[in-house]
Amino acid sequence: MENRPQWGSRAGFILAAAGSAIGLGNIWRFPATAYENGGGAFFLPYLFALLTAGIPILIMEFAIGHKYKGSSPLSLARISPKAEWLGWWQVAISFFISVYYSVIIAWAMSYFIFSFKLSWGNDTEAFLYGDYLKLAEAPGQTGSLVLHVLIPLVLVWIVTLGVLLKGIKKGIEAANKIFLPTLIILFLIIVIRAVTLDGAMEGLHAFFKPNWSAIGDGKVWIAAYGQIFFSLSVGFAIMITYSSYLPKKSDLTNNAFITGFGNSAFELLAGIGVFSALGFMATQQGIPIDKVVQGGVGLAFVVFPQIINEFPAFKQLFGMLFFASLTLAGLTSLISIIETFVAGIQDKFTISRTKSVLIGGGIASICSLLFATQGGLYFLDVVDYFINNFGVALAGLVEVVLVAWVFKQLSSLQQHANEVSDIRIGSWWKICLGVVTPLVLGYMMFDNFRKNISENYEQYATTFVGPFGWGVAALAVILGIAFSFARWEDGTLRLSVKEKGVSK
Ligand code: ALA
Repeated sequence: MENRPQWGSRAGFILAAAGSAIGLGNIWRFPATAYENGGGAFFLPYLFALLTAGIPILIMEFAIGHKYKGSSPLSLARISPKAEWLGWWQVAISFFISVYYSVIIAWAMSYFIFSFKLSWGNDTEAFLYGDYLKLAEAPGQTGSLVLHVLIPLVLVWIVTLGVLLKGIKKGIEAANKIFLPTLIILFLIIVIRAVTLDGAMEGLHAFFKPNWSAIGDGKVWIAAYGQIFFSLSVGFAIMITYSSYLPKKSDLTNNAFITGFGNSAFELLAGIGVFSALGFMATQQGIPIDKVVQGGVGLAFVVFPQIINEFPAFKQLFGMLFFASLTLAGLTSLISIIETFVAGIQDKFTISRTKSVLIGGGIASICSLLFATQGGLYFLDVVDYFINNFGVALAGLVEVVLVAWVFKQLSSLQQHANEVSDIRIGSWWKICLGVVTPLVLGYMMFDNFRKNISENYEQYATTFVGPFGWGVAALAVILGIAFSFARWEDGTLRLSVKEKGVSK
């Protein structure tokens, strides 16, 4: 463990952490989530979740990884062997995310190619569900593998595992140094063009118009927490793993603020770009904006192609820019998601990085094939919903409760962060993590459990939501506990003298 690899530079780490945070969640999840949950009023729970949970947890995860120098399971096991299962649970959540996240990137790659000829035609909905995905008739049916999805999916895995095989500095850091600045430039071009389109102002007005009654609804708050956790990559082992590769002298707190605010700035930019474009489309078609808004898959792959069709000029170019952005944003996040289990397997079973990438990545790539079948979209929808609500957000909640109250780590982590950082965190940090987040998120989680038990998500059949929703979320916990039973090689749990101690 003494030869743990390190990032080459501070900028390299920040780019990698921001690359992980800025992902599909920012572009295809945030704009619609905000709109559906109160528009401008959503910013209140969003900012509350960012400032009282997102950034404080990010600082906490950076401090855990940096202090205990390990993947999430190893770092938590070093806090206490009784905490290890939480690390594996988070790793398992990442595993489940990787298997469908990779498929969305594959779609984005296909659509990048489709942009050359605007192959989606006029009926973009029929094209997506019929021609491209060949969607099965009912949820739960798999049908056959869809070749159009399979080919780019193989490419996604080759690129991602290729980067991971090259290691932390030459692989992950180098890739992020190219991908993230490219993404930001491409996306800025899109947003600048979008806000100058006819009708953009109507779109922005719809986006920012506050519906204050929404903030009384627990669902809106869970949506805000879920968005912040997923988007900031906290609660699923990523940031603990990434910060374990930091050198001793690293300004943890400042890095967390840069990553947190950078991610939200990008998210806001995405909201502005997407709603400007939606306003344009609504104006062109002479229909109200709420008729054109869709979330997730529909937004990126049905509505955006329509917007591109309506574009006054350079339709193909705009399409390519949008889908290239989606692909790049997705890849930098997918790399970080897979790194969590690559690092976990490597630490626990003391095998080489190459073996760990091939085993972990190999199993994930095979599992991802389920989402490349004709029924893939339904599986994706339900796994995504449950793994976010009862995976990421729940694991984040359990993490703060265990770290703050059961293993009583907040004071020592605060001291650790303050020893290495310019900005000193005060008691507000402990209050946010120890009191505010457990209370607010705990209540919201309870409420959400109750609602989901009384009514099936999207009214899917219980035979479908049972195994692929609740079942997958439960499997992540079971896998977490199971992996924590395997033995560590002697001495691994002790921090070596070299790893210990912090010098400024
Ligand atoms: N943080 C990543 C995203 O927003 C997972 O997509």
